[in-house]
Amino acid sequence: MTAPDETPLLRVTALHKHFGALHVLRGLDLEVPRGEVTVVLGGSGTGKSVLMRQIASLDTPDSGSITFDGQELVGLGERELLPFRRRMGMVFQGSALFDSLTVFENVAFPLRQHSDFGSAAIRERVMTLLTALEIAHAAKKLPSEISGGMQKRTAIARALALDTELIIYDEPTSGLDPVVSRAVDDLIRKTSEDFNVTSLVVSHDIQSVLRIAQRVAYLHEGRVLFWGPPADMLKSPAPQLTRYLEAAGM
Ligand SMILES: Nc1ncnc2c1ncn2[C@@H]1O[C@H](COP(=O)(O)OP(=O)(O)OP(=O)(O)O)[C@@H](O)[C@H]1O
Ligand SMILES: [Mg+2]
Repeated sequence: MTAPDETPLLRVTALHKHFGALHVLRGLDLEVPRGEVTVVLGGSGTGKSVLMRQIASLDTPDSGSITFDGQELVGLGERELLPFRRRMGMVFQGSALFDSLTVFENVAFPLRQHSDFGSAAIRERVMTLLTALEIAHAAKKLPSEISGGMQKRTAIARALALDTELIIYDEPTSGLDPVVSRAVDDLIRKTSEDFNVTSLVVSHDIQSVLRIAQRVAYLHEGRVLFWGPPADMLKSPAPQLTRYLEAAGM
């Protein structure tokens, strides 16, 4: 038997998801090892966001299994999912902040909803996160008053607010300029190390994958066509992957 800590934090097995006649996930298998940054790569419309939504239990698959820390999530009711929701944070495509709430209140939101922290404890936790992510000076600002990179930092702080073990980032650098994108990439890696979280990142950007990923999963036609270290991906003989990498200039 493997020791519990050696089991992947997340394991997806034979996952299927249809939308009407569209078969998006077609028996997808994926492992996300603890403490690593895993990047999910794949063309537009291959089902990356759909997969992330199933993992975060925001939507239910047609069949298959998703285990988090060895426990099955598929089939759980909203009440039974609550303790797992506290252990996962999500940074959506776009930052999905609450426009009418300040940076501080955005980060405090999950604590007010899902913890029994009092206001002093919330304040301390939020300010610790904002300081770590270097946006404490913007605590009182609204999302519309800060830059895209700062919005992303706020979304990351919010995703970290509870006792997060897994952060899911859906295209965290889309819409950001190259310099800010690079800063966000570095932040993902640093967040992973400093907060000891496992990260699952959806990306289009090969350069960013090579910079931050310890593991890459390449999605093609609803399945994982390649899974392994980025250096091995570059050597993969799979023609679909070779074409993708060539198109990306590799
Ligand atoms: N709620 C839904 N209802 C119907 N079809 C959907 C739904 N969500 C996603 N789809 C379809 O599933 C497919 C996969 O979508 P998904 O958003 O996962 O792609 P993606 O890989 O994230 O693409 P991108 O890189 O452009 O974000 C697309 O064809 C999309 O139109
Ligand atoms: Mg997407």
